[in-house]
Amino acid sequence: MSGLAALCFLLLQTGACGFEILGWFFRGKSLTHEDITERAILNTTVQVCRALALAEGKDFTFPPQPFTAQGVAAACSAPKSSKSFRQAIQKVIFWNVRVDLRYALNASFHFDEESFIEGRRIITVGIQAVKASNKKENFEAARQNLGQCLHPLQDFYSHSNWVELGNQFPNPNLIRSDTSIGNIADKSRATCRNCDGKDCRNNILEDIIAEGILTSGYFGVVPFVSTKPKGKCSHGGAVDQTSTIQPKGGINKDTVDSSHGFLHSEAANMAIAATSALLEDIRRAAGDKPFLQMMGISRGSNKALCFVIDTTGSMADDIATVSNVTASIINSKVGTEDEPSVYILVPFNDPGFGPLKKTTDPEVFKNTINSLSAAGGGDVPEMSLSALQLALAGAPSSSEIFLFTDAPAKDAHLKSTIIALIERTETVVNFMITTSTATNRLRRSEQQHTRIAAADAQLYRDLAQTSGGQAIEVTKSELLEASSIITDSSSSSLVTLLQATRNQADNFLFIVDETVTNVRIYITGSSITFTLISPTGESQQSSDTTGSLITSSQSVGNFQTLRIIKQVGQWEIKMVSTNPYSLKVIGQSPIDFLFDFVEVSQGVFTGFDVLETRPKAGKGASKCELDEALKSSSRN
Ligand SMILES: *[C@@H]1O[C@H](CO)[C@@H](O)[C@H](O)[C@H]1NC(C)=O
Ligand SMILES: *[C@@H]1O[C@H](CO)[C@@H](O)[C@H](O)[C@H]1NC(C)=O
Ligand SMILES: *[C@@H]1O[C@H](CO)[C@@H](O)[C@H](O)[C@H]1NC(C)=O
Repeated sequence: MSGLAALCFLLLQTGACGFEILGWFFRGKSLTHEDITERAILNTTVQVCRALALAEGKDFTFPPQPFTAQGVAAACSAPKSSKSFRQAIQKVIFWNVRVDLRYALNASFHFDEESFIEGRRIITVGIQAVKASNKKENFEAARQNLGQCLHPLQDFYSHSNWVELGNQFPNPNLIRSDTSIGNIADKSRATCRNCDGKDCRNNILEDIIAEGILTSGYFGVVPFVSTKPKGKCSHGGAVDQTSTIQPKGGINKDTVDSSHGFLHSEAANMAIAATSALLEDIRRAAGDKPFLQMMGISRGSNKALCFVIDTTGSMADDIATVSNVTASIINSKVGTEDEPSVYILVPFNDPGFGPLKKTTDPEVFKNTINSLSAAGGGDVPEMSLSALQLALAGAPSSSEIFLFTDAPAKDAHLKSTIIALIERTETVVNFMITTSTATNRLRRSEQQHTRIAAADAQLYRDLAQTSGGQAIEVTKSELLEASSIITDSSSSSLVTLLQATRNQADNFLFIVDETVTNVRIYITGSSITFTLISPTGESQQSSDTTGSLITSSQSVGNFQTLRIIKQVGQWEIKMVSTNPYSLKVIGQSPIDFLFDFVEVSQGVFTGFDVLETRPKAGKGASKCELDEALKSSSRN
């Protein structure tokens, strides 16, 4: 597998399906970083939601045990957030587990080798970074820093003798920087003796225990080379070469089979409690709602609604319409579960673009758009992609962007950068291209074209397709209608059943299963006809307005949308066109996928590393389950 990029899928959201695949969390006798992190996050989140509900004078019902992301999201009155909650937990876990891949041999990240001061520094610096990121509403960075600082915190309970010292509660000083961690063993003080063969139950020296002195195990992977000072304990286990040198054996509690595996469960439970306490500290600093946002939970969505608007002279007439259209898009989301948490505007002109304006208040946002004015823009192409790039960089992942323009992009060289950004942020970009009248266009230049050239439109189409959005070409008067249809397509519980672009006739299959309702077909392109065939073999032509398969149909500009009857099974749609077109079939379903691209890590421990971007061309890609990736990358 080495060098292969692997594509990981994680199925979730329906209780049954999600649980089967994620079942390993609760299987086996040993708890991992994943289990510990997940349990603590679920536990703390329940407490936060309970506090919020009580503060609002509402009842709170605890979710069924064991807690799941879905159950907790529902208890938090935010059932639609269960996917983003799950995603946030996975992100924290990934960054936690990644510490083993990146810093396998740095003792400070694992509280090995009595590196208590350095270990605590990593935790407290990390906590500060989480708090700072939350203040800036940069929740992505908050989750990364959180995962990274939870790793050493959890390791402390497995790798040190805290549990052996008889402590019943987590060490509160690991999440503070101004206190004493405890009575740390002197570098020259012996802490361990040889284990009795495989039996390591009594290898920590009695005086260490009696005096309550903190120590932890040494660790090394190179045979016959040990940095372990005389008399010190080892981490222990097959990988640790220091454990073969006197004093032999180890003290870690990573699994039930470890040297001190008899204390695994005490250590793991203490790590859960310690993780909960750290989360509690972050919650106190952030406040309840921002804490939930960091965890991907909100009653609205965690997404931004972004408008990227062309303000060059030729758009002068369009701006009023655009501002009406954007107002109608905003209004359609306010008060629903799809209500954005933030609104972003990026105007662009020629040669300027930006600045990015951000607000959480929809009324302020509408006024900002209303006050846009159009001017400038000598030649036709504009800086649309530069503006789009700014919006993509400023919006949280899985946001939605609408770009309004009547001109091709001057900065088409940014295409691959934009595609990479779209893929990384999983943002949906819709292009609303107004086809100008000849007089409009003439005012701008000598060009006679009334719509942007095919090649230019193709660029927008490609970007829309990559993002799962639409590139709609309409006249100004059709813009409002087109927007109302398209906002219908951006509800959070939608799944894509089929998506394709072609410039010739083709046949497509898509499957509708029992969980899918409200199936809609979106087609963009001009002069297209099609035949739709249902699972039972019934068919309907696009020209047939009385057939039984299509229950409603709307068409505006180059965009049309159909609703079809509910029939489970394989559908077929035969498209006939000589023009470029795109086809998308969506439906509502509680089942959805989260995915990450990963590659096999090159570190000491085998495992997977999350890629920040998609895999490089030319490298193989394979599919694996996320639990497999996490399991094999875990050192504990
Ligand atoms: C271990 O990591 C800490 C914190 O990043 C760093 O200060 C230290 O230099 C690293 N030690 C080694 C041996 O790389
Ligand atoms: C759950 O969280 C609460 C408060 O956040 C904490 O007091 C409790 O110890 C946690 N439970 C576990 C099992 O960690
Ligand atoms: C914008 O909306 C207002 C009120 O809905 C309407 O009166 C006005 O004519 C609209 N303007 C345009 C340009 O569509």
